[in-house]
Amino acid sequence: MHKDPSASITHKESWGTYHMLTLNTPEIATLAAPGQFIMVRTSLLHQPLLRRPFSIHAVSGTELIIFFQSVGVGTRLLSLTNRGQALDILGPLGRGFDLSGDLKGLQAALVGGGRGIAPLFFLANELRKMGADVRIFYGGNSEEDLVLRERFASAGFAPDCSTEDGSYGYHGLVTDLVIKDTREAYAPDRLYACGPDGMLQAVGELAHGLSIPAELSLESIMGCGFGACWGCVHKIRKDGEEAWRKICEEGPVFLAEDVVWRGEDR
Ligand SMILES: Cc1cc2nc3c(=O)[nH]c(=O)nc-3n(C[C@H](O)[C@H](O)[C@H](O)COP(=O)(O)OP(=O)(O)OC[C@H]3O[C@@H](n4cnc5c(N)ncnc54)[C@H](O)[C@@H]3O)c2cc1C
Ligand code: FES
Repeated sequence: MHKDPSASITHKESWGTYHMLTLNTPEIATLAAPGQFIMVRTSLLHQPLLRRPFSIHAVSGTELIIFFQSVGVGTRLLSLTNRGQALDILGPLGRGFDLSGDLKGLQAALVGGGRGIAPLFFLANELRKMGADVRIFYGGNSEEDLVLRERFASAGFAPDCSTEDGSYGYHGLVTDLVIKDTREAYAPDRLYACGPDGMLQAVGELAHGLSIPAELSLESIMGCGFGACWGCVHKIRKDGEEAWRKICEEGPVFLAEDVVWRGEDR
């Protein structure tokens, strides 16, 4: 883990409540892997005191990109930053997606809900470099949530989109779109997902039904981001035993079969 107190913002783009910041941070960018995250200090004042976690959306040379939605005080302050300003960040943190082994020819289905699409761009690019065949499923409440669809399309990953209000693409949940496609002709070898808990749980159930693995990137409110506060725990199975584990250190990416959802505890 590195601390960069002066990661300068070299580019900024905004779409409604969604924002993308490119940061020049040579050490952190060079070490970053898909599924890892950074902790960002969103204010130089005392409020908010705690850093906020953001997935690494992409890296290019010495630069790293984050994509986020403004949902509260910290993200609103971050949305007000501008090119030329510097951010105090820590990273790269956590354990990302498993890219070990021979992934050549792997049919990889990446499922993102709303801001959960953030880490999947980095993952899609790395999977493609390793020879996998990548398909992106991108869901939101409405068309305004699908702001990255052009970005994915220009990188050669034209996404299959869904909206809950039917304003764009398939009318319904993104997981229902994946289920529909798997019932028709699509046969993924592995699922990767990031988004709200309900969506992650549905992806896990789908993977179980298809007898394929799924890797889920979990979210949690984080105090420190590196294992010191126990603020981020989730019940996870390991070697047959369920225990509260720190998402920031042992995750945020876990195998779906290891994640214990509320109401599922034994
Ligand atoms: C590993 C990880 C990676 C993440 N990556 C991204 C990303 O790439 N892009 C992005 O937009 N967001 C991401 N998030 C979520 C992001 O960290 C939160 O939205 C952010 O911390 C909210 O801060 P705030 O000060 O704006 O909100 P606050 O004012 O603190 O809270 C606003 C509301 O959001 C809820 N909230 C706060 N933090 C979280 C959280 N972590 N999960 C769920 N609900 C929360 C609060 O309960 C409250 O209802 C990630 C979270 C984790 C754990
Ligand atoms: S956020 Fe502090 S231990 Fe995970």
